[in-house]
Amino acid sequence: MSMVVKPQTDSGTHPEDYQEIIDFIDNYYAGRKDALIQVLHTAQEIYGYLPLELQKVVAEKLDVPLSKVSGVVSFYSFFSTKPRGKYTIRVCLGTACYVRGGKKLVDHLIKKLGIEIGDTTPDRLYTFEIARCIGACGLAPALMINDDVYKQMTPAKVDKLLAELEKGETS
Ligand code: FES
Repeated sequence: MSMVVKPQTDSGTHPEDYQEIIDFIDNYYAGRKDALIQVLHTAQEIYGYLPLELQKVVAEKLDVPLSKVSGVVSFYSFFSTKPRGKYTIRVCLGTACYVRGGKKLVDHLIKKLGIEIGDTTPDRLYTFEIARCIGACGLAPALMINDDVYKQMTPAKVDKLLAELEKGETS
């Protein structure tokens, strides 16, 4: 008899019962302890992040200790245990960007988004992080939004950029 794991919802943001990942494991990786990273990737693709309840489901279905699953999740920076925004903003605080105004961008975004570094806005639009050199030192300060690099940024340019993204969300 297969057991359906019913996780608790965390703060009401995650009502799924994780059936999709359970089916995925049953179909492709049942009992395959060596598939842990692949399964975690898929779980994060489906649910956006890997809360503890989801890690428990994976641990149980692959028959690996939860401590091992949690260890892998915390080791690799591409796994996240917190919900992430649609747009990840990474302000560069490498040396060139720092001395040319990167810190000002950080302070501006903290105020503008109302969140701290590493957090996600409640509407799940933005996750805000720091980067260490994104290869645009000659045109510092720079930041990234998802995979795009924006150079010679100022707080006013940041405002314009975010306004454009938000306009795209509502149109
Ligand atoms: S230090 Fe910011 S891009 Fe290199």
